[in-house]
Amino acid sequence: MNIIVQGPQGSGKGTQVEKLVQKYNLKHFDAGSLLRKEASEEIKKIMDKGELVPQYYVKQLVEKFIAENPNSGFVFDGYPRTIDQYEELKTILQNKIDYVVNIEISIDESVRRLSLRGREDDKPEAIKRRLQIYHTQTHPVFEKAVAEGIGFEVNGEQSIEQVFADICRKLI
Ligand code: AP5
Repeated sequence: MNIIVQGPQGSGKGTQVEKLVQKYNLKHFDAGSLLRKEASEEIKKIMDKGELVPQYYVKQLVEKFIAENPNSGFVFDGYPRTIDQYEELKTILQNKIDYVVNIEISIDESVRRLSLRGREDDKPEAIKRRLQIYHTQTHPVFEKAVAEGIGFEVNGEQSIEQVFADICRKLI
């Protein structure tokens, strides 16, 4: 099973994906963490501003990750973030994407949760920019998945356990 988990910043993608990995024995592609670990100083500057890093860079990471985990199911967290990346992933996986989950929370809740966390890109200006990119470039991926019959949404403003239960209920 291959799943994409999306949602605004702070919606709990990382939190829910950890639980999906355990329950369904999936490999976790975490774009943000991999980039924070492997990216050059130049790329990190782009991330700290809340901008998307160049697509070729993320493509290399995802291709390497998939090649290193043959015969696995995957959960993608933080990728794809644009329609182009979505089409790219479909090609890489030969169209084998089962679900695109959108965890929805309000802008106020995003800002509240990220302000409590305090990562390098959790500064007000960068949060604002990340949310703007999410709404203009990433949410359309979910809309496309809904039109394709593989997208569903859950309410992210509930307890972690309740959000997880809502996701699992929709996975066959
Ligand atoms: P990335 O690391 O993916 O960051 P993000 O999308 O901004 O997501 P977050 O980690 O902020 O939020 P999350 O939804 O995972 O929430 P979490 O579970 O941590 O990407 C960082 C940067 O990398 C991007 O800005 C970009 O520059 C670059 N990048 C990454 N992918 C890219 C791509 N494909 N192309 C180009 N560039 C890319 O939870 C947040 C907090 O909320 C936690 O404190 C948690 O405890 C709490 N929480 C979680 N669930 C709940 C709940 N139900 N109730 C209350 N609190 C909760």
